[in-house]
Amino acid sequence: MTALNTSARIAVIGAGAMGAGIAQVAAQAGHPVLLLDNRPGAAAQAIEGIDRQLGKRVENGKLSAESRSATVARLQAVEAIETLAACDLIIEAIVENLEVKRALFRQLEGICGEHCILASNTSSLSITSIAAQLDHPQRLLGLHFFNPAPVMALVEVVCGLASDPALAECLYDTARAWGKKPVHTRSTPGFIVNRVARPFYAESLRMLQEGAADCPTLDALMREAGGFAMGAFELTDLIGHDVNYAVTCSVFDAYYGDFRFQPSLIQKELVDAGRFGRKSGRGFYDYAEGAERPAAQSLAAAAKPACVVVEGDLGPAAALVERIEAAGIEIVRRDGAGLLRVGEAVLALSDGRMAAERARDEGLRNLALFDLALDYAKASRLAVAFAAGTDAAAREAVAGLLQAAGIAVTEVTDSPALVVLRTVAMLANEAADAVLQGVGSAADIDLAMCAGVNYPKGPLAWADAIGVGTVLGALDHLQRSYGEDRYRPSLLLRRLHCAGERFHG
Ligand code: NAI
Repeated sequence: MTALNTSARIAVIGAGAMGAGIAQVAAQAGHPVLLLDNRPGAAAQAIEGIDRQLGKRVENGKLSAESRSATVARLQAVEAIETLAACDLIIEAIVENLEVKRALFRQLEGICGEHCILASNTSSLSITSIAAQLDHPQRLLGLHFFNPAPVMALVEVVCGLASDPALAECLYDTARAWGKKPVHTRSTPGFIVNRVARPFYAESLRMLQEGAADCPTLDALMREAGGFAMGAFELTDLIGHDVNYAVTCSVFDAYYGDFRFQPSLIQKELVDAGRFGRKSGRGFYDYAEGAERPAAQSLAAAAKPACVVVEGDLGPAAALVERIEAAGIEIVRRDGAGLLRVGEAVLALSDGRMAAERARDEGLRNLALFDLALDYAKASRLAVAFAAGTDAAAREAVAGLLQAAGIAVTEVTDSPALVVLRTVAMLANEAADAVLQGVGSAADIDLAMCAGVNYPKGPLAWADAIGVGTVLGALDHLQRSYGEDRYRPSLLLRRLHCAGERFHG
């Protein structure tokens, strides 16, 4: 089955933030669109709002006046549900309540033709469950847009137990024809994005709770080393802690309390206090007028060393050596286990063990571990943890070396897998389990995380790039350090690692 052609009549029910956005997307793609809301006048107001938005784009030269008027002419507000009788696709974006959605779809079945596809934009309800009481549950699917729908590229096409796979293909192709990046997924809690993204927030919250570093420092590391657009604290302040905490709780409950998804007491306390983030003026940060954002912690400037010894291959961090060399520091290469020696210090990429543990295991003095970076050729900051007992001269040598290469150095408390490695390992782990459980393909999951939440790299492509074994090792060490089920590695990671395989090709 191919995409619905542009003469197909679309209806959107619910003219709130999502419904209005979805109606705009469908109308811009050329479909006649009916918009219905049970609040009198809401649909007409939403269309006026769309017209105003498009007007701004015309003023900015981003849209032609003809496109604007053609799009708006395709949108029609309606007040009676019976007017949807001749529609080919109805997308529901009403209140997030199972019984209300079920009742609406039952009512629609009595009004629409048998060929009409029914879709729900639900974020958290089961498609299987919404469809359960329909006469034709095979025609109900999830079509999950992201906010704001006209801007965000991702659409999750969700199949419930009864959904017809041919209709999933049709919606997938239709979403693509609308300029979106669709992915296929199954009706499981959180679908792809709201499940796989949980560790992004959870690990920063855990590190904050354990005093590994403060919010601005952890945020800066996620941005400047991890390449994420925002750190977890600034992002949850933007999303709203009430919303983000509710999603976490709903996923945690839906997975019967799996500790991988355990909510954070720190976030709960913000919610309890009414500190929802930007919208309430305060969250992790203060948004009052004139309030200053505290700066990330960095080690003081130290002298540039003349020489560094590179022992063996640094693996994912190899580009760091080129940067050091470009800074005019002499490089001496030797065989070895992938270490840098500078002054009295030994510097290595974290493998998931704490620095104190690795120093003890390997008999290393003055050991400093550095964190994962998305791209060591570009990272402007790196986290470093020193083993207990590392002397001041060794600390300065490490700081001076990385600073000479143009990298701000942030010391974090000696913690397993540091900051970026820990987060990426947990994202890849969740993504791997989602593949294992048939929630989505590796390609779709990576696409979903890049197009839905702007990750700089899909978690599974990232695991391939640094090595599935590196991710598995980090998780094994995390699990051993904490003794918690939360860090249990996905069976798929271990299987691929043992077979010497990757997620992509
Ligand atoms: P909203 O509260 O902005 O809009 C909901 C609209 O539906 C309101 O205008 C309301 O009057 C109308 N409505 C409620 N019950 C109705 C009924 N029985 N018949 C007709 N109209 C009805 O909500 P929002 O944020 O647009 O969310 C709508 C749906 O989209 C929910 O299922 C939500 O989970 C989902 N969603 C929300 C996202 C978001 O970021 N806000 C993102 C993705 C999905």
